[in-house]
Amino acid sequence: MSAEVIYGKQLAEELREEMKEEVKGLKEHGIYPKLVVVIIGEDPASKSYVRGKQRASEKVGLDSELIELPETTSEQELLELIERLNQDETVHGILVQLPLPNQIADQKVIEAIDPSKDVDGFHPSNVGKMMTGQETFYPCTPYGILVMLKRAEISLEGKNVVIIGRSNLVGKPVGQLLLNENATVTHCHSRTKNLQEHTRKADILIVAAGKPGLISAEDISEGVVVIDVGVNRVEGKLTGDVQFESARQKASYITPVPKGVGPMTITMLLHNTIKAAKRIHN
Ligand code: GUN
Repeated sequence: MSAEVIYGKQLAEELREEMKEEVKGLKEHGIYPKLVVVIIGEDPASKSYVRGKQRASEKVGLDSELIELPETTSEQELLELIERLNQDETVHGILVQLPLPNQIADQKVIEAIDPSKDVDGFHPSNVGKMMTGQETFYPCTPYGILVMLKRAEISLEGKNVVIIGRSNLVGKPVGQLLLNENATVTHCHSRTKNLQEHTRKADILIVAAGKPGLISAEDISEGVVVIDVGVNRVEGKLTGDVQFESARQKASYITPVPKGVGPMTITMLLHNTIKAAKRIHN
């Protein structure tokens, strides 16, 4: 078997075309959805992600503002900025790019953002809503994965979903979203014993470990759906956590890196921002 490749990039472009129309309609009603992205410091990977988010926002017609602060910014200064953005009625979505410098506690910042503007879906109030199966902002990468699976008409009910990775950004929330879809979810992580025993039982394998080439054909069963969330730079080249050419021989569907999950993450951020704007004005 050679897997069908699911190009998130293509789906992202389709969804963004639809969003462009939606934003146009909102503007005709005087609603100008606005996203503010805050970045602290000079980390090249973070800067590159943020540039991508801004470019995509502008392309679908969102108002987009980038606030760049120095590496030495204090926690208090950042919290004051967030409070200003919370109060600003022209701002619908606030995203503070993570990770933050050591002097700033990520969780404190996440909790300072008004949950109704938390387009990352990281605030405990939104995480709690997701856990209890309520409608809310879902974290962008997990949500993007869910939309990709649905658009590819891959059924989730009763499927064995194995997730490698347990971060708050990806591993945990993607498990929750798929549990909400009635999948049977197993979380694996760095302390998991006999990883291969788990991965071979997967109907759907989601790899978010940050370890280039961790998974190959011998770790998976025939017909599995493989979602590669890895974003690793190896010798200057972007590569995933899955050995693509090897795994695609056995999988039924597989996502590439690049052009796989990444573009969907940004697309769901745009979706959440539009949703935030619509919610306020409804
Ligand atoms: N850093 C890496 N991914 C993300 C993300 O989705 N949101 C934020 N805020 N920071 C990130």
